[in-house]
Amino acid sequence: MKAITQDRYGSSDVLRLDEVATPAPGADEVLVRVHAAGVGPEVWHIMTGRPYFVRLMGFGVRAPKQRVPGRDLAGTVEAVGSAVTEFQPGDEVFGSGRGTLAEYACAAAADEGKVGGAGVLAPKPANLMFEQAAAVPTSGATALQGLRDAGGVRGGQSVLIIGASGGVGTFAVQLAKHFDAHVTGVCSTAKTELVRSLGADAVIDYTREDFADRPERYDLILDTAGRRALSGLRRALTPRGTLVIVGGEGGGRLTGGFERQLRAVVLSRFVSQRLVPLTAVDRRADLLFLKDIIEDGKLTPVIDRTFALGEAAQALTDAEEGHGRGKKVIVI
Ligand SMILES: NC(=O)c1ccc[n+]([C@@H]2O[C@H](COP(=O)([O-])OP(=O)(O)OC[C@H]3O[C@@H](n4cnc5c(N)ncnc54)[C@H](OP(=O)(O)O)[C@@H]3O)[C@@H](O)[C@H]2O)c1
Repeated sequence: MKAITQDRYGSSDVLRLDEVATPAPGADEVLVRVHAAGVGPEVWHIMTGRPYFVRLMGFGVRAPKQRVPGRDLAGTVEAVGSAVTEFQPGDEVFGSGRGTLAEYACAAAADEGKVGGAGVLAPKPANLMFEQAAAVPTSGATALQGLRDAGGVRGGQSVLIIGASGGVGTFAVQLAKHFDAHVTGVCSTAKTELVRSLGADAVIDYTREDFADRPERYDLILDTAGRRALSGLRRALTPRGTLVIVGGEGGGRLTGGFERQLRAVVLSRFVSQRLVPLTAVDRRADLLFLKDIIEDGKLTPVIDRTFALGEAAQALTDAEEGHGRGKKVIVI
């Protein structure tokens, strides 16, 4: 089968369009014919092995353990392992697996609660095309877990989404509206209309105005843009508000933007505000939650751009820039 491979960590020029053996599913795994695979900064971090901290999360210290990159997928079940009862060949699925920048990828039917585990699958939302469904798993689940689980969002709260136009942010704006919050999105000038169209009640253009200088205070801030100092974020929170740190860009080679998350954990013990770093996990219940509201017409994935498999390097170069307008999807 055709697949993107990498034998060492590095920028996107380590990627090759290759011919490799089709993987065989284990007993509790599903082999999926991949029709589309969503990519974003999370794939970029694993491709580059940066910050180095990422390598210690089980991805391989010297070289990537998984030769074929990619996590998110939407496709058709080709074969199932002997212990799998939930899926059968021909089922249309979405979720996460291993090495999804390929014609075929294996995914655990449900390797629950893991970060970068063997995957989790659910039936594809019936009203989405494969390329739309492939945009959902990581970014949709991250936005959901950030708002609902880490953030404890409630109806009537005022919520600020920083990075509202990106892969995670476009889901977060729609989900926060679904939870009946009053939503303010932060993005650059060219994307204000997009963020408004997703349902944001207010939009702040960060190129013209700093949200922390405004008088508004927010019950919940979801920061997906990853570079802002904790002091500025805390200034925009109510005295008992919650900050959920999703993004971790910038910083040094060792821990990168994660430094900010580590500092947040320590500081949170000494202040009245809750400062919570988020690490999203694989959970089928979350895929099913997202599927339901997508089918109800309350959530629509935003596709930044689609790429052919041979253009994966370009997609990941774009992902590094961190100016997504929704999600990048590789169509296979
Ligand atoms: N914690 C987890 O488990 C988890 C899971 C998935 C992703 N992530 C992380 O979450 C972050 C976001 O991922 P993503 O897929 O949403 O990335 P993305 O698609 O590149 O989106 C990033 C967004 O941030 C915006 N942005 C950049 N600078 C900004 C600023 N100063 N103020 C406000 N917005 C700004 C960009 O908009 P403009 O173009 O308008 O600047 C862009 O829309 C990444 O760091 C990623 O690694 C974490």
